[in-house]
Amino acid sequence: MPGSTLRLGTRSDLVRSTWKRTLRHGTRALYEDAALYDALYRRWTRHARFYAELAARHGGPVLELGAGTGRVAVEIARRGVDVVGVEAVPAMLARARERLLRLPVAARERVTLVRTDMRRLALGRRFRLVIAPFNLFMHCYDASELQHALDVCRRNLAPGGRLAFDVLLPDLKRLAEPPGRLYSAGHVVVPEHRTRYRLREGGHYDAARQIRTTVLVLDPLTGAGRQRVIPLTQRQWFPAELVSCLDAAGFAVVHRFGDFERNALDAQSASQVIVARASMGTRSR
Ligand SMILES: C[S@@+](CC[C@H](N)C(=O)[O-])C[C@H]1O[C@@H](n2cnc3c(N)ncnc32)[C@H](O)[C@@H]1O
Repeated sequence: MPGSTLRLGTRSDLVRSTWKRTLRHGTRALYEDAALYDALYRRWTRHARFYAELAARHGGPVLELGAGTGRVAVEIARRGVDVVGVEAVPAMLARARERLLRLPVAARERVTLVRTDMRRLALGRRFRLVIAPFNLFMHCYDASELQHALDVCRRNLAPGGRLAFDVLLPDLKRLAEPPGRLYSAGHVVVPEHRTRYRLREGGHYDAARQIRTTVLVLDPLTGAGRQRVIPLTQRQWFPAELVSCLDAAGFAVVHRFGDFERNALDAQSASQVIVARASMGTRSR
């Protein structure tokens, strides 16, 4: 076109956009196969009990960010508490809807599922408890993304309400694993795939960005499935940084546990389980 100029991206534009694509892929790939997700984390149920107990204690309504296949929302509803689950990936939401069908009607009616990106959440109501279970905030890849997510939580909290979430405690041994090496992680049966897989995990850690990319490799042993290689990108939140981000977003930590049994956070903990409240006064941000 006469007079127009072709804008060529610089190398750093390219690196930035490739990196963003990597993060997008690492945030969705695992969740696009909801049956596989449920099979992989079948045994991880303690967090659901923890959040359901918290919900019973605080009362509803509860807002669950990253509701996934509905594992936590269903437990909350079973305790007689209303819950709104927000989820971005349609496959996860569809499986959550199937899970709801297995609930007694009274409990089912307590659950509302909404397909949206939590970063654009606009429900126009406030909640006694906002939860972000099972490492959701590890998909916030830097402090400003976490800050943004915490602002969303704060805007949706009723006065006196609580925010609760968990993220892994960075495991230095794991982060130091040599990139490219795969470790055996057992087997997983996915009934919907009619397949039993051998599971191996590897990954690498970008220490400057504090992002670990885990690669799940699933090889079919029996059945109809094919080999799957799934990346999962997770920001590592070191404890002091997490508390600073909460403080900057106007939250005060009420409890900081090291597991879902409410034991204190220490060097052996696997997770950081945080319960916070909005601090008095508003932060100037
Ligand atoms: C680790 S799963 C946890 C699912 C569920 N809470 C559980 O305990 O099994 C994280 C979920 O958050 C969803 N998610 C990630 N980023 C999101 C976003 N920005 N908005 C809404 N959902 C998001 C993912 O699609 C995924 O289903």
